[in-house]
Amino acid sequence: MGFDIDKIRADFPILLRQVHNKPLIYFDNAATSQKPKAVIDALVHYYTHLNANIHRGVHALSQEATDAYEQARDGVKTFFNAQFREEIIFTAGTTHSINIVAHGFRSLLNPGDEIIVGQAEHHSNIVPWQMACDLTGAVLKVLPIDDNGQLQLDALQSLLGPKTQLVVVNHVSNALGTINPIEKIIEMAHQAGAKVLIDGAQASSHIQVDVSALNVDFYTTSAHKMCGPTGVGMLYGKKELLELLPPYQGGGEMIKEVYFQGTTYAGLPHKFEAGTPNIAGGIGFGAAIEYLNEIGLDEIAAYEHDLLLYATEELKQVQGLRIYGDVPLKTAVISFNIEGLHPYDVGTLLDQMGIAVRTGQHCAQPVMDFYGIPGTVRASFAFYNTKDEIDTLVKGVKRAVNMLL
Ligand code: ALA
Repeated sequence: MGFDIDKIRADFPILLRQVHNKPLIYFDNAATSQKPKAVIDALVHYYTHLNANIHRGVHALSQEATDAYEQARDGVKTFFNAQFREEIIFTAGTTHSINIVAHGFRSLLNPGDEIIVGQAEHHSNIVPWQMACDLTGAVLKVLPIDDNGQLQLDALQSLLGPKTQLVVVNHVSNALGTINPIEKIIEMAHQAGAKVLIDGAQASSHIQVDVSALNVDFYTTSAHKMCGPTGVGMLYGKKELLELLPPYQGGGEMIKEVYFQGTTYAGLPHKFEAGTPNIAGGIGFGAAIEYLNEIGLDEIAAYEHDLLLYATEELKQVQGLRIYGDVPLKTAVISFNIEGLHPYDVGTLLDQMGIAVRTGQHCAQPVMDFYGIPGTVRASFAFYNTKDEIDTLVKGVKRAVNMLL
């Protein structure tokens, strides 16, 4: 399928709706992406025709549901080019994925061990590590960003040492859209003998990720940022590392045998999938991956980059507007403020014009503290957005300036 924007927009029913009597312009894609009909249909099809619990029944319905769920796992495995299907753990989302690893490391960390965390992380890639450090006596070290929001690799070299157990950074900053040089970071960390976890929530529907080529130890993402449903995501981990980590939750599905004297655990991936999973969500995740594959991630990336360049140039014409993280290597996210205006006021006025943007700290308070600001206005674009919509955003921002200043 070629890149036909009208055809693509027709796949997303929500883009037809009005907000405050204006056509919806959805520029909050970094918070969650919209869902194409193919994904909505997959959810309805599951509940209409396949609904049964998986991995549990000999009956036909259970087998069919299990096949659909496990097929989705294969789709995710291929999409991220993992070596083994059992390296793909279905989770509730990126936060859950990171917590599985951080919880597992509690039994591997010793007092004085070090974890290096990026300064521009989402809270979900900070707090689980703080909790692990509190319980083990390990120490959290911060890898600083520069004024453009880019990680300082020189500082990484000096932070890495014999006590470093883990380096945890995002692939793309949710607050700024800046892309981190994860290939280099993984190489440097491995040279120092440390493992690496990459939070890929903001990358995986914009950049083709190959976990095998990256040689990354853990990679996490959420389906809902990739046109899939909420409440489902992925933890990729190298098989030998996932085998080393203890389970996160106990329950059905994750066991081999249970006696009151003791329990043995199931193999991967089930060891980390206690309880009835989000079956419909997993199947919907698979449908989203198929949908993205049909369009092609390279085509998506090229189209979104064009939108980014256009919007950056146009927004820079607005008097007093500052973009945070204005660097060449970024996804289609523009985080900005206008001198003298509070981001919340700008966002509220844009909403009245039918334009959805996110305002505030974006669950990344340390980034806002670094810049000394209460928050930003964040416009984040997807492959179903258009330059016409960006023109409306720019007009809207100019109108907000005229009204508020
Ligand atoms: N992590 C999501 C965002 O950046 C919610 O908006």
